[in-house]
Amino acid sequence: MDAPAVDTPAIEMIDITKVFPGVVANDRVNLTVREGEIHALLGENGAGKSTLMSVLFGIYEADSGVIRIRGKEAVIRNPNDAIALRIGMVHQHFKLTPNFTVAENIVLGLERRNRFGNLDMAAAEQKTAELSAAYGLAVDPRSRIEDITVGMQQRVEILKILYRNADILIFDEPTAVLTPQEIDELLIIFNRLKAEGKTIIFITHKLKEIKAAADRCTVLRRGRTIDTVAVKDADTMELAEKMVGRAVNFKLDRKPAHPGGTVLRIEDLHVADSRGPYAVKGFSLEVRAGEVVGVAGVDGNGQSELAAAIYGLLPVKSGRILFKGRDITRRSIAERIKLGIAYVPDDRQKYGLALDFYLYESLMLKGYRQPPFAQNLIDQFDIRAENGPLTRTGDLSGGNQQKAIIARELSLDPELLIVSQPTRGLDVGAVEYIHTRILAERDKGRAILLISFELDEILGLCDRIAAISRGSIVGIVTAEEATERRIGAMMGGLASPEGRNYA
Ligand SMILES: Nc1ncnc2c1ncn2[C@@H]1O[C@H](COP(=O)(O)OP(=O)(O)OP(=O)(O)O)[C@@H](O)[C@H]1O
Ligand SMILES: [Mg+2]
Repeated sequence: MDAPAVDTPAIEMIDITKVFPGVVANDRVNLTVREGEIHALLGENGAGKSTLMSVLFGIYEADSGVIRIRGKEAVIRNPNDAIALRIGMVHQHFKLTPNFTVAENIVLGLERRNRFGNLDMAAAEQKTAELSAAYGLAVDPRSRIEDITVGMQQRVEILKILYRNADILIFDEPTAVLTPQEIDELLIIFNRLKAEGKTIIFITHKLKEIKAAADRCTVLRRGRTIDTVAVKDADTMELAEKMVGRAVNFKLDRKPAHPGGTVLRIEDLHVADSRGPYAVKGFSLEVRAGEVVGVAGVDGNGQSELAAAIYGLLPVKSGRILFKGRDITRRSIAERIKLGIAYVPDDRQKYGLALDFYLYESLMLKGYRQPPFAQNLIDQFDIRAENGPLTRTGDLSGGNQQKAIIARELSLDPELLIVSQPTRGLDVGAVEYIHTRILAERDKGRAILLISFELDEILGLCDRIAAISRGSIVGIVTAEEATERRIGAMMGGLASPEGRNYA
């Protein structure tokens, strides 16, 4: 055998086509990834990014096309074939076992046994510790998955593929679940992996991240390759345009707010937490008609529990929730919906959608309306669903599932809208649309409570901003007073690096 030439690419995907019923998800796609580079994959929601990576990792088999790995043609029929080729993938929804330890999860499936036939956990823990030291992936091998933050869980996923000797690492939207701090850390980890000679492909919708970490970027649109560019020469506006096929407006047009009466009033709220005494502790806040109030904070400081309690998903220990002056603290979720409260949860797979339902059913879960209504929402929100209302919800791309939840909740025309991470996983065009819609709801006189880890989003949309830390409010500022630095200081001041901070 000839030794591969020095510049043999790590990956060549040539004319890859993958068809699902009703949709050509990849249409003769070409992707070349150089050995040792960080290669970003950019494209609007439904462009075919996850599908392409699933073909590379053997989750799907392409209908046609050729894959070469390190210069050699490869047939990748399943993930085991991919792993044998030293390819690893970190999925957007982690596949860890919550009540197992870090080390147990890492060796799951390839347990080494010692000479007595018992699991050799000591060896696994040692190798885990070595790998985490080598790549700066700080984790405690003995912690249980359920006790560590999302950012840590992601490190476990990375360790898991390194443990299997992967040197081509695929990440499908790794930053969508992370806080800004964790994102910075992940990008540092990427660079460390690259320095060790690893090749990285990562999918993201954030042009900032591409600029910060990637060497080259391939843009997909509607199943096709549009271009591959060197990131340092690329302008972010240009990239965005290539991706959505039109100019994108990054600057929101926000008119002054005209707040009316109080719609939501939270008084000294306490909500219990499964691990500590309180997730929400003495929280008070008001949201008036016609204003967007933001809750800014590091993940794990009680914001999910706060939203869930207002919607009725979590019981309140003490304190009150008032909706237009009425005490709803003990009301059922159904009653709250009837009163005019809508909720876009952050975990769309768990609380947001029934994946096995048709899209029209998902869009009407609460509205009980007619099918033309579903088509109308699909058009308005540009939900890319090849079989229209009859698409299975779970077959939608990640971002399109997110659009479906927002469409459904906004269609209820709620008086109070609670939105948690509304644009997570959305492409820049969709973000622009959702932000415009949220402001339109505000201008119609709706009260909006926005929970987001993204300061850009908070600063772009909110009229008032409350910073939350350890389940309590650290301070409230108006849009005029708010600067990135000030909010960052407020939310960061009391938080530990782990971000899980229940007193
Ligand atoms: N298992 C499946 N069955 C049917 N259609 C699918 C399936 N998986 C994906 N699709 C469709 O293929 C197209 C590409 O989807 P894909 O998930 O690859 O998009 P994506 O670029 O990853 O989007 P996003 O940014 O929203 O995650 C979409 O139209 C999607 O609905
Ligand atoms: Mg995807």
